[in-house]
Amino acid sequence: MVALDGPSGTGKTTVARKLAARLDAGYLDTGAMYRLVALAVLRSGTDPADAAAVAGVARAARLDVGTSPGRPHARLDGEDVGAEIRGAAVTTAVSPVSAVPEVRELLVAEQRRIIAEVLAGTAGIVVEGRDIGTVVAPDAALKVFLTASAEVRASRRGAQDTAAGRGTGAEAARAAVDRRDHLDSTRAASPMRAAEDAVVVDTSDLSIDQVIVALGELAGRRG
Ligand code: C5P
Repeated sequence: MVALDGPSGTGKTTVARKLAARLDAGYLDTGAMYRLVALAVLRSGTDPADAAAVAGVARAARLDVGTSPGRPHARLDGEDVGAEIRGAAVTTAVSPVSAVPEVRELLVAEQRRIIAEVLAGTAGIVVEGRDIGTVVAPDAALKVFLTASAEVRASRRGAQDTAAGRGTGAEAARAAVDRRDHLDSTRAASPMRAAEDAVVVDTSDLSIDQVIVALGELAGRRG
């Protein structure tokens, strides 16, 4: 199993999916699970800052994310919401929602269940998130923490938003990335950080393919 952690704009999702396909392994996007809970919170009219109410919504929501690197899906209570969970409203709500300890407990348990299920049937799994190497799967054979400079991350995020028709400009992209990073790395419940035994890869000056080649070699060595 490969644990792939790091902030947004590091190429994490693209790298995780391509690496999984290359290794013929499964894939789990844990960020999509937190985004599904954030969408459920917004749809129910709950205040994302109301921890007890958010936990209640999380308990009631039916989350379904695919584990195929080719066509990952995201469903909330049976409805395909893959596009909606990438929108600005969910992206703003997801950090406070994911800082609620009960939400993390629920999702970490579900993530471990999915990982065990996939590992029982295939060669391996690439799991991406913020706390995979530290909390969800501390025994992962390979732990990678992707980083990139703030400028590079903001410009990648801005380009992604523009490509998806959500263009907000470089300034706004930079502010949103900074805000989310700050919340994710300073929260009390499992803050984002590299595991002590993680390989830290700075992707600022690397293409996606260069990152995948490097990680593919590491994964081949560590199994
Ligand atoms: O990876 P992605 O940008 O989709 O993650 C969305 C949000 O979900 C992150 O900003 C973070 O707040 C939360 N998250 C988390 N733990 C994970 C994955 C995502 O707290 N393992």
